[in-house]
Amino acid sequence: MGKCPECGMWNSLVETVEKKSKVSAKGRSASGGKPQKLSEIKISQDVRTSTGFIELDRVLGGGLLNGSVILLSGDPGIGKSTLLLQMGLNLSQEECVLYVSGEESAAQIKTRALRLHSGPRNNLYISSETLVEEIVDQISQVGQIGLIIIDSIQTIQSEDLTGAPGSVGQIRECTRVLTQIAKKKGITLFLIGHVTKEGTVAGPMVLSHMVDTVLFLEGEEFRSIRVLRTLKNRFGPIDEVGVFEMTGAGIKEVKNPSDFFLGSNGMGKKNVPGSVVVASVQGSRPILVEVQALVVPSKLVVPRRVVSGADFKRVELLCAVLQKICKLPLDRFDIFINIVGGLVLREPGIDLGITLAIFSSFKGKMLPGTVAIAEVGLLGELRAVAQEEKRVNEAKKLGFKNIITHTSFSNLAQVTSFYGKKN
Ligand code: TYD
Ligand code: MG
Repeated sequence: MGKCPECGMWNSLVETVEKKSKVSAKGRSASGGKPQKLSEIKISQDVRTSTGFIELDRVLGGGLLNGSVILLSGDPGIGKSTLLLQMGLNLSQEECVLYVSGEESAAQIKTRALRLHSGPRNNLYISSETLVEEIVDQISQVGQIGLIIIDSIQTIQSEDLTGAPGSVGQIRECTRVLTQIAKKKGITLFLIGHVTKEGTVAGPMVLSHMVDTVLFLEGEEFRSIRVLRTLKNRFGPIDEVGVFEMTGAGIKEVKNPSDFFLGSNGMGKKNVPGSVVVASVQGSRPILVEVQALVVPSKLVVPRRVVSGADFKRVELLCAVLQKICKLPLDRFDIFINIVGGLVLREPGIDLGITLAIFSSFKGKMLPGTVAIAEVGLLGELRAVAQEEKRVNEAKKLGFKNIITHTSFSNLAQVTSFYGKKN
């Protein structure tokens, strides 16, 4: 509750600092408050520290940058604490790490660390403190800290504010205080936040404006795959993804995602109609994934379309193209589409793969050893896709001989008529 500066009334929506914070606003500026000439500004070499996870390093733009503030968001239970505790354990071999948890007790964190099969790490400090002023004191007590992990920012509060932990005012103030210390001392600060991709839950959209990097960990409840995406990065690209797998002994990186996602369909040798391999690009990296389709006669007036891992509307559009251009009577069939392995692919480069998987299931024709790389237009034309060469090279690297692109056929009707006659 605070006093509105305009009407002077006490208002629960207005939150104001009631007493001055121990951390002064000074020190925010490295120049002591004086403007500097651009030519005179000294820039230190970007020193990046590895997190011990190649996948995480790539998403961050090459590792951790001293003094940077990173928000790791994602749904509860997805593995944020596990990932960052593992990263803390890795880094504590080199420098002091402070892990502040307002969610779990120190004993619970130790149990988790033991589950992760880590040896003793004397440089990892655990704190269950939730008052930001106390955390600031603890940072000075530990001394030379390289990394601070706050789990989660929603549980931290400042005694200068009356709002409950997790309120917008508290989140903003605590982040401000911690960011200031991190920047001043060159400490990397990781904040965990329970946020959805849209930033709507718990309202800390405000938080993403205050930090340098926003990462989002996503995955499905009953699948072990976890994908780490960058939503914002002041110090690196934003389209990189990191692929991880949640196991009984912690989170493990998937260094070769194509192998992982193709699974038993390695080299596309699955001899079952309805399976086609696509080459999708996630960030700078091509990933080969299997698309499965099941087409069965429908008893419904409006046949069913069930899509998992791809864009529903796009699949509907591709069905319409197959019906009109390739003369497949799909309006009398239920269609089920699945991107195997739990990845969600939303890019036009997988259009041809989806249409060919539907065609393959409908006709009972197998397309073994085939990788489909093209966008399909409304008139059935095959179009080139971004980073096509990278995709083709990845397919070749994994031993695929039959790679269909816009250069192999110009129209979808030609592809279906060619494979319709085969076998
Ligand atoms: P957690 O890291 O606590 O998620 P978050 O911090 O995002 O809320 O992970 C919680 C889930 O992960 C929980 O269901 C247990 C599971 N888990 C594993 O599968 N393996 C492990 O090694 C650990 C530590 C947790
Ligand atoms: Mg957690």
